[in-house]
Amino acid sequence: MIPEEKILELLDQSFASSALALPGKSEGKVRDGYVLSDRRRLLVTTDRLSAFDRILAAVPYKGQVLNQLSAWWFEQTRDIVANHVLGVPDPNALLAREAQPFPVEVVVRGYITGVTHTALWYRYSIGEREIYGYRFPDGLRKNQELAEPIITPTTKGGPTGHDERLTCREVSEQGWLDEATWNEVQSAALALFQRGQEVAHRAGLILVDTKYEFGRAPDGRVMLIDEVHTPDSSRFWKADTYAARFAAGQEPENYDKEFIRIAYADQGYLGDGPVPAMPPSLWTAASQRYISIYERLTGQTFVPGEYPVAPRLQANLQKAGIL
Ligand SMILES: Nc1ncnc2c1ncn2[C@@H]1O[C@H](COP(=O)(O)OP(=O)(O)OP(=O)(O)O)[C@@H](O)[C@H]1O
Ligand SMILES: [Mg+2]
Repeated sequence: MIPEEKILELLDQSFASSALALPGKSEGKVRDGYVLSDRRRLLVTTDRLSAFDRILAAVPYKGQVLNQLSAWWFEQTRDIVANHVLGVPDPNALLAREAQPFPVEVVVRGYITGVTHTALWYRYSIGEREIYGYRFPDGLRKNQELAEPIITPTTKGGPTGHDERLTCREVSEQGWLDEATWNEVQSAALALFQRGQEVAHRAGLILVDTKYEFGRAPDGRVMLIDEVHTPDSSRFWKADTYAARFAAGQEPENYDKEFIRIAYADQGYLGDGPVPAMPPSLWTAASQRYISIYERLTGQTFVPGEYPVAPRLQANLQKAGIL
């Protein structure tokens, strides 16, 4: 593990944004995208950390972890569904096939949990028993495993809008996707989730829920895009303590970025109003958490890329003939 002092030194040098001499830049919360020739796209994963739909900090190595962990998962799941990966020219960059992204986010959930307005547990706790088109029995408890994983789609809110909940039926009935495509996407999503749970289990973790994005490839195929099974798109819990804690009515030990939301909540911040300042130790802990998730899931030692990232990225893209 990279020592805290080393990460502290890098805090000021975090990779907060990219400025490449490429056209068509789009900025997501975490990734910068650039349009390339031949229907390709360069996705640069920065160190930006978002929660509560806001960018809260830039955390050393977070971008590299997300990019390399995603690339690893794409490789692990390519037998299930085609994906957008063409190459990894730099630890923070992915060369991808440009997709026409589908307008739904495909959330898969194995457990009833969460407190945001789209979360299963939140809906259940306010008395709803039909949620996302599924019937739930009385007597469920927070963080309980579902009989089987379910798909709970939402519309893609975009940077300002909100994600609206949909039932699986509404996705095709309301014309968000045609029925054949939606069926293909649902099968792929459930198979991906099963693979994700198996791999996480071997790493001593539970893949609780996750969000996939799919799109249409230039050749017409359905393909998996964006990111897969990262701590930004997924919830992970520690497997070995889950059962005892659940039985005792305690919250599971999270192994994702939830501890950052909790740190803010402890300061009274829940997403509205001025964002409280946080001590550097929270960001070094975040960096170490991301790295250890990478190492646990992949079974590989994390090899830190050189900082600052920008000149290194520039050189690697030139070497790859992208710049
Ligand atoms: N192969 C691809 N082709 C086209 N778009 C893609 C591809 N892979 C990912 N994207 C898009 O790139 C963006 C990734 O950036 P990021 O994840 O930071 O965005 P976000 O903040 O989650 O969402 P938003 O785009 O709503 O701001 C997403 O909008 C995603 O849909
Ligand atoms: Mg995203």
